[in-house]
Amino acid sequence: MQAVQTKLWLLGTGGTIAGQSAVEGDNVGYTAGTVPVEALLPKGANRLLESAGLEVVSRQLAQLDSKDMTYSVWFALAEAVCAACDDPAVRGVVITHGTDTIEETAFFLAEVCRPVKPVVLTCAMRPATAASPDGPQNLLDAMAVASDERAGGVVVVTAGAVHRASSVSKVHPYRIDAFSSGEQGPLAMVEEGRIRWLHQSGEAQPSASQGSTTSKELRGGDHHPSDALRLVSQLRTGGLPRVEWVVSRTGVGPREVEQWLVDSPSEPVRGLIVVGTGNGTFHQSLVEPLKRAEAAGVLVWRTTRCTQGPIVLGSSGVDWPRVTHLDPVKARIALALCIARADCSYSAV
Ligand code: SIN
Repeated sequence: MQAVQTKLWLLGTGGTIAGQSAVEGDNVGYTAGTVPVEALLPKGANRLLESAGLEVVSRQLAQLDSKDMTYSVWFALAEAVCAACDDPAVRGVVITHGTDTIEETAFFLAEVCRPVKPVVLTCAMRPATAASPDGPQNLLDAMAVASDERAGGVVVVTAGAVHRASSVSKVHPYRIDAFSSGEQGPLAMVEEGRIRWLHQSGEAQPSASQGSTTSKELRGGDHHPSDALRLVSQLRTGGLPRVEWVVSRTGVGPREVEQWLVDSPSEPVRGLIVVGTGNGTFHQSLVEPLKRAEAAGVLVWRTTRCTQGPIVLGSSGVDWPRVTHLDPVKARIALALCIARADCSYSAV
């Protein structure tokens, strides 16, 4: 018999949603990450919780401006998500977060935990002390998504839209509606507490270890919940493998790559994401240094500076895998995790 799910976990990490300004109504001069997570519960939360038969269990896992996000907070979040997924009484998890790096945290949690239960990150563009803060509605919407029986996997809820972890990006520094899923569009809309699904929830969120992501198949091992905890424990001890960006641009030279090949025994660069032009192409001056990097054991993946659409496969004369569906921010995390899992085996398409 299935256990009754009675709990919604609310994990606070800070951000503007928990920000306060000394000047009432100031939307930009404020300190992020100051209001405790349990004080963020919006009006209307009790009604929603009662109708869903849920109670909130809140925990402050961090209290920071998300530009300062750390791997140790990621690890704590991943452990909490695993614990919630393991607890039959938990319906889902809501995480309050700053907007600046929410897409990174969401992608990391999706890749590491791959939860079946809903894990819903939310945020705000205006601090809690704004004349018209967006945080309370976003949090209410996030709770509605986490309570919805059709929800599953890691998503970001903001400005009435539900975005997949793999496609969401912050695209505007000020607007309330600051996030986009690009050509993929949102997964669902939240309208007065009701979720209008545009696509099936919990559908495969393209994973770095699944073939759809790259021009060569990047295969990970089979994933079980205990794998996630093992991986997090490994990362806590050994750290997330260091992966850097190489940005192709007019006038770029070999130094763009060579700077990362200097001896750094405590934290050697293990992977490079080439942020290429257009269809994942890059300046010819980078080819030889990238070959040297690869010969030295550094994994090289290519992505694109274009902000819309996937790389379209085709022959380009160089043979490094192209990450077709991930932007450079997410590709960096995906490659680091592939290296950590020691499973970046490629097979030609
Ligand atoms: C942050 O990312 O923590 C500050 C900015 C924001 O949440 O909008």
